[in-house]
Amino acid sequence: MVERFLQTLFMENKPPFAVITGASRGIGAEYARALAAQGYDLLLVARDQNRLNQLTNELRQTTSVQVWTETLDLARPHAAGTLYQIAQSYRPHVSLLVNNAGFGLYGLFTGMPLSTIQDMLQVHIHVTTESTRLFLPDMINRRQGAIINVASVAGFFPIPYMAEYAATKAFIISFSEAVAMEAKETEVSIQVCCPGYTETDFHKTAGHRPHHMISPHTPRDVVQKSLKALRSGQTLVTIGWQGLATQWITRFIPQKWLTRLSARLVRPNSSSH
Ligand SMILES: NC(=O)c1ccc[n+]([C@@H]2O[C@H](COP(=O)([O-])OP(=O)(O)OC[C@H]3O[C@@H](n4cnc5c(N)ncnc54)[C@H](OP(=O)(O)O)[C@@H]3O)[C@@H](O)[C@H]2O)c1
Repeated sequence: MVERFLQTLFMENKPPFAVITGASRGIGAEYARALAAQGYDLLLVARDQNRLNQLTNELRQTTSVQVWTETLDLARPHAAGTLYQIAQSYRPHVSLLVNNAGFGLYGLFTGMPLSTIQDMLQVHIHVTTESTRLFLPDMINRRQGAIINVASVAGFFPIPYMAEYAATKAFIISFSEAVAMEAKETEVSIQVCCPGYTETDFHKTAGHRPHHMISPHTPRDVVQKSLKALRSGQTLVTIGWQGLATQWITRFIPQKWLTRLSARLVRPNSSSH
C-alpha cells in the first residue's frame, strides 16, 4: 500500500514529504536519516536548532533530499495547529507524519512539578491527537499517506514512579489502534510504534537509568522495524523479541501483579538503579 503510494509520487516527479517531530536527536533523528535515504523531503521539528542544523548538514552531505527545520516547543498550547500550518507552508500534502517527540519523568507523582506534567500531557496527548486530526483528512481524501505515533512498551501496563509517562503512552496506543481501525478501508496507514529500552538521551533527561537484564535497542533497530512494518500495514509495532515478549506477558499477567512488580523495579533508591 505504502509502496504503491511512493511509486505514484515518484512517477509524478514529486518526492514524498515527511514531517518528523522530536527530530533533533535519538529515534526522531534516525527516522530522518532512514526516510532521507528513501528519498523523502523532510520537515524536522524540535526545540534545539543547533542539533537540527547539524542533522541537516549531515543529510545534505549524504542525500539530495530537501530538508527544512523549524524550532517549535510542542508543549505550548495549540502546538499541533502551529505544526500543521508550518507543514502547509512548505507543502500542501504530507505523505508521512511521525509524532515522535516525547520525554520521560521519573519519581513520585506528587513530587512532580505540575507544569512539567502539563507539558507531558500536551506533547504526548494533545499534539498526537490534534495533529492526527489535522493531517489525516487530507491523507484519506487522497487515499495516500501514513502516520506513525511513537508510544512505548511502557504504555502496556501501569508503572509507578513513571505514572504519567506510562499513562500517556497507553493513551497513544489506544487512540492510534482505534483510529487505525476506522481508517482501515482508506489506504492510509496508522502505526503505533512501541519501543522498549533504547539507547538515547531519553533516560538522562528523565533522570532515570534503567537496570536491565537485556540489552537495549539502538534507534536504528527501532526505525528499521517501524518502517518495515509500515510497508506491511502493521498497526501495533514492538521491537525485537524483547518487545514481543513484553507484549505477550502484559496480556496474560494480571495488571495488579505487573504494577506491583514494576513498582519494585522502578522505585527510586531501590537496588535496581
Ligand atoms: N529511549 C527509550 O528507551 C524509549 C523507549 C520507548 C519510547 N520512547 C519514545 O521515543 C520518542 C523519542 O525519544 P528518544 O528516545 O529519541 O529520546 P530523546 O533522544 O530524548 O529525544 C526526544 C526528542 O523529543 C523532542 N522533544 C521533547 N520535548 C519536546 C517539546 N516540548 N517540543 C518539541 N520537541 C520536543 C526532543 O527535541 P528538543 O529537546 O530539541 O526539543 C528530541 O528531539 C519519545 O516519544 C519517547 O517517549 C523512547
